[in-house]
This record gives sequence, structure tokens and C-alpha cells, in this order.
Amino acid sequence: MSTSTARSTPASTLITNIGELSTQDETRGTGSVLQDAAVVFEGERISWIGAASDAPAADEMVDAGGRAGLPGWVDSHTHLVFAGDRGAEFEARMAGESYAAGGIAVTTNATRAASDYDLTRLLLARVAEAAAGGTTYLETKTGYGLNLEEERRHARIAATVANQVTYLGAHLVPAGSDADDYTDLVCTEMLEAVLPYVQWADVFCEEGAFTEDQSRRVLKACRDAGLGLRVHGNQLGHGAGARLAVEFGAASVDHVNHLTDDDIDALAGTWKEWNADGTDAAARVAGTVATCLPACDLSTRAPLAPARKLLDAGVQVALASNCNPGTSHTSSMNFCVATAVLQMGLTVQEALRAATFGGALALRVHTGEDRDGQRAVGSLAVGHRADLQLLNAPSAAHLAYRPGMPLTGAVWRAGQQLG
Ligand code: NIG
Repeated sequence: MSTSTARSTPASTLITNIGELSTQDETRGTGSVLQDAAVVFEGERISWIGAASDAPAADEMVDAGGRAGLPGWVDSHTHLVFAGDRGAEFEARMAGESYAAGGIAVTTNATRAASDYDLTRLLLARVAEAAAGGTTYLETKTGYGLNLEEERRHARIAATVANQVTYLGAHLVPAGSDADDYTDLVCTEMLEAVLPYVQWADVFCEEGAFTEDQSRRVLKACRDAGLGLRVHGNQLGHGAGARLAVEFGAASVDHVNHLTDDDIDALAGTWKEWNADGTDAAARVAGTVATCLPACDLSTRAPLAPARKLLDAGVQVALASNCNPGTSHTSSMNFCVATAVLQMGLTVQEALRAATFGGALALRVHTGEDRDGQRAVGSLAVGHRADLQLLNAPSAAHLAYRPGMPLTGAVWRAGQQLG
């Protein structure tokens, strides 16, 4: 991401006197939360982590004053390329209307009418807002274009700002189109048009959007084109989304409000090797992450995704904002974490992990180098990208203990302090 003012970066930075540092570094086992800790950045990478008393010198020193530190949020599900407002739809929903995917068409009309300049300006402002809230790495999607030219334009604009871009031509069948003809277009010329700009493909597999058969066609065509896969599934009711995600080896299935025990077992099955005792961390095989979207669940008054049950079954869970104008008009990961703890039954560390390492897993940037040659994100370890936030609080528990309070104190992205 290339937004928010970043200060000039010294060659190395020591952030010391961190009261509680939640590294989310699994290789540390139960010792992944450090007390009285320090971190050193060199350029855009982390070069040292340990006890503050052992920290090496650096060009610049920041005293965290006993505040809590943690990785920057990794938001693995957003829809940030849009124009227009759906506040009235939200208000009607709060007065008893139920959410229907049809509202997507309202945003499609407004977004098609917006210029490149306006869409880029809106996107930059949204990414800057997310970064101010501690999000240092994010994915965003197309899906409000719904014709070849607009999907290509939105993908192109998204690629200039987001870390990763997902092609969601299969978001809704546009008014006046035949569903099967439109699905064919999504799988052929439209796919070709967006390919230079996107890493992932997604399909909204749901009643009122794309059927199981249409979703399967989209996933197959996009996989054949070399894209990684994700699925919007099981949001509005029981359906084929999670099952298809497993069948196609998708990196994530997102929403997951309505899962059967068989769905959960199938998702857990994709993590068998990952969870196997004694498996070398570097050799682990990542399966299909269940991405829960608590802000969306609240904003649509949907049953909360069963994050606790998923974790207990051995499924890897991510938390994401799903920032979009219809179902979740917030990029606040602090809010998502607080909700996951207060209402979904996660511990503080589980929620932090899902909003950092979980998101990185869902985007396959938890280890090594990602597709742009960037470093691993979502956990604090030597060699990983220097994405760190300090909270104006002594522990990360305050995110849920003091929900809604402005706790994000300072944010570094790729070694650069923002703001
Ligand atoms: O993830 N579920 C489908 N897509 C979006 C909603 C988009 C909209 O209503 O504008 C979501 O919730």
C-alpha cells in the first residue's frame, strides 16, 4: 500500500520498552507473548526481537513507554473500490428489512458513474483510514463493475493501491443479463481482461447470486488461468460455498455464518497436515481458512459466524473487516477483534492471531516472500516485514476490555512510521 504520509525512514529503528509484545510467532510456542520487549527494524524488515534489556543499538530509538505492541492487522477481505452511499438501505435494515444481495446493483451504478480520479481518491482515503486503525496489509476486490470494461478498470485501480487484488466479477448477475451468459463472460473475456491486475478470484456462491454449478464454472476457469481462489460462502443460508472451497483447494471461504457439521469437518480436513504433531513449520501445508466477518454479521443482523466452533475443530480462522458500502461500512479491525472476543467466544490472543496471522494465511503471505517479492506479514519474527502497531494501552486485552476506544497509538508499515 502506498498511502498515508510516511515519515522518512532511518536505516535502523529500535522500538524499546514495549510492555507486552504479542508476536503471533508460532515458532515461539507458548512464549509468543513477550514482556518488557524490544524490536529492531532494518529498512523494511525486522532484524531483531527480544528482551528490552538485551536490545542492540540502532540509528533511531523509540520508547514505547510500556505500551502493548503487536503486528499490524492483515485485512484479507475488503471491497474498497466503490462510490456512492447506502445509508438508507442500512437504516431500513435496522428497521426490519432483511439484507438481500440486490443492493450490490445500487453500488454498481454509482461506481460505474465515478471517474478514475474519484475512484482512486476514494480508495486511497479508505486505505489511509484503515492504516490509521493499524491495518498494514490488505486485500481488496473488484465486483461492483459487473461488465468487462468496468471490472478491468476497477482491477487496474485496485492494483495501484492494495497489496493483493481479487477478481469478483461473479458478485452478482447484472440486471438484464442471463445468468449463464454472464457466468460465461466472467469465465472468458472478462477474466482475460483483469488477469494483469489480480492474484485471486472469488465467487459469491449464494441463493440470489451464483448457483453451485455457476460457481464451479467460475472457480475452474479462474484456477485454470492461474489465479488463487477464494469463495464468498454460507453467508445468507446453508449452501455449497464451503464445500466448493474445499473441493477447489481455495485459500479461504469467507462469511461462513451458516455451516453444517459436515462443512466444518471438511474445512478441518484441509488442515490435517498443518495440525499434525511434529510437522516442521516450514513444511506445513496450508488449507482453506474460514474468514469470519464480525462487523458484517452485526451490520446485517446475521447469526455470528461460529468462530469458536471452527477453532475447536482445528480450522484456521481469519478475521477481516469486509469493508463495503452494503453490509459492513467499516475498516476497523479493532472493532472486529473486540467483537470476536466479546461475542464470538475467542480469547484475546486467538482474536489477535486471526486478525494478523490468520489473514496472512488466507492471503498466503504468512511465510517466505509473497507474489510481489514482499516479506512475510502477520507475525513478528526476524526477516518478516516490519509491520507493527503500538496501542495506547498496557496490553492487547484492552482492545476488548475498552471497546470502541481509540487505542491505536503508532503504526509502522514496512519499517516506516505512518502519520
Ligand atoms: O461481502 N456478500 C457479498 N458481497 C458483500 C456485500 C456487498 C454489498 O452488499 O454491496 C459482502 O458482504
